[in-house]
Amino acid sequence: MELIDVLADKTRAALAHLYNVTDAKISFEKTNANFAGDYTFVVFPFVRLSKKSPEATGEEIGSLIQNEVPQISGFNVVKGFLNFELSDDYWLEVAQKRVANGVSIPHIGEGKKVVVEYSSPNTNKPLHLGHVRNNVLGLAMCEILVANGYEVIKNNLVNDRGIHICKSMIAWQKWGNGETPESAGIKGDHLVGKYYVEFDKHYRAEVKALVEKGLTEETAKNEASLMQETRQMLQKWEDGDEMVLTLWKKMNAWVYAGFDVTYKRLGVSFDKIYYESNTYILGKAMVQEGLTSGAFYQKEDNSVWVDLTADGLDEKIVQRSDGTSVYITQDIGTADLKYQDFKMDKFIYVVGNEQDYHFKVLQLILKKLNKPYADGLFHLSYGMVDLPEGKMKSREGTVVDADELMEEVVSTAQKQTEELGKTEGMSAEQLEILYETLGMGALKYYLLKVDAKKRMLYDPKESIDFQGNTAPFIQYTYTRINSILRAASETGLAVKFELPDQLAPEEKELIVLMNGYPDAVNAAANHYNPSEIANSVYELAKAFNKFYHEHSILGATKENERNFRITLSQVVGETIKHGFGLLGITVPERM
Ligand code: ARG
Repeated sequence: MELIDVLADKTRAALAHLYNVTDAKISFEKTNANFAGDYTFVVFPFVRLSKKSPEATGEEIGSLIQNEVPQISGFNVVKGFLNFELSDDYWLEVAQKRVANGVSIPHIGEGKKVVVEYSSPNTNKPLHLGHVRNNVLGLAMCEILVANGYEVIKNNLVNDRGIHICKSMIAWQKWGNGETPESAGIKGDHLVGKYYVEFDKHYRAEVKALVEKGLTEETAKNEASLMQETRQMLQKWEDGDEMVLTLWKKMNAWVYAGFDVTYKRLGVSFDKIYYESNTYILGKAMVQEGLTSGAFYQKEDNSVWVDLTADGLDEKIVQRSDGTSVYITQDIGTADLKYQDFKMDKFIYVVGNEQDYHFKVLQLILKKLNKPYADGLFHLSYGMVDLPEGKMKSREGTVVDADELMEEVVSTAQKQTEELGKTEGMSAEQLEILYETLGMGALKYYLLKVDAKKRMLYDPKESIDFQGNTAPFIQYTYTRINSILRAASETGLAVKFELPDQLAPEEKELIVLMNGYPDAVNAAANHYNPSEIANSVYELAKAFNKFYHEHSILGATKENERNFRITLSQVVGETIKHGFGLLGITVPERM
């Protein structure tokens, strides 16, 4: 049993003995850095029962527990906070076990299956900064769940059909002159995106001309010949028109080839890809099912609705009057398909917070349809990413292209590294890998260290700073540890755990932080929050640097001290690498 559990047990027993409390929720926190102690128990809730001051209450609970737990070396009470201090012997034992066992994460997800849907692009344009946050979050979430023992299915839902892709197709037909990614020398997703923009340009001009002729904006938008042609094309697509399907397949194939390059650089992959062109039909059968069961109702124009007013929402359309699907129809169908395919316990959607309402509705609908999996739905919702004013606007000036962004951040990593003169003795190939590792690490870490729900500013310059809460800082710490280990082995020093004569505060801090790391990994899974791992790793890297500056490792005067510090450094490095791995970030071996 972990000491923290022993403490909880003993506290429970003490509360029962002293105050007859049997149902208290017991939890310990890491003691605030301003006070002496390791774990803190808050006694305020029991002051009413003890009929004593918070200090006296803490004293009586504390002495009772101290007598029972030999690892406690002392305690103090500040206001209502009971701070327990654990003995150095205890922490050294923790260190010894940590060295012997490596990183070990309790498998809280054992035997459970999760489908994580992320990325989910549309095939009419390339990926942008928002997708980068999505992909990076999704990848980290998958890695974290796997580390917690879950079986994970990495899933992508590609929106490959609909009016938006028809717009790119129409524009390419009209103004493309047969251009291909090869002939144009650009990635396929960028080429198709170019025609999407092209469509919009012509369409806006046409609408403007119609408005000048006296039409209202709405009528103009609706009656513009370009829009009519696009709708006709969608109709032909639905009717299975050979020529339209051929063009559609050709252009989508370009897009997928382009996406693959972006995905590869991001380090993401998928076990299962659904295409909306296949799944959009499935929802229709479920609409019928809902009509039969009474979960849905039909209006006079034949459109189908669900009434969610009792749940505090409004009425929501699930099928149009002409029998065509709306956005949510395909999600109803796809959710069911996922369950048939995987019989998962949970399914997560990594999707931006502009769709919070959509997923609330989706879950309520699945509940109304009595689907056994409805409760397992979780929307991992994330906020928008902005850029500082004036930085890296894309060609169209609105969104930031993912490929350009990655290129930019990797080349900044290169500049920075060269300026700092950290490139000596490395081959061109090694350097290329290093820049990629630093640049992509900087980007991913910066996006992941913030709570997903928060809207955030991505500052490329800051993300790649070698100081502060950044990936390069942590990666640098890792290589610093590596070079210590290299130097140790070059001088023939055996890396073996030995007990030091005494434990310095900076050493103890490292042990405490490493001891808390598996909890952070569990918590990140329970809260669907990768930032908890980022923070845990950052604290550890910071503490290591403090330790490094205060103590000589290889030059320690006593052999047992030196060996202790070397092994301690080694496991810190191991933990950093593990944590970064869960964030989808690699570490350089040297820099
Ligand atoms: N393709 C959609 C978009 O770009 C996101 C899809 C989210 N996933 C879902 N199952 N609805 O807005």
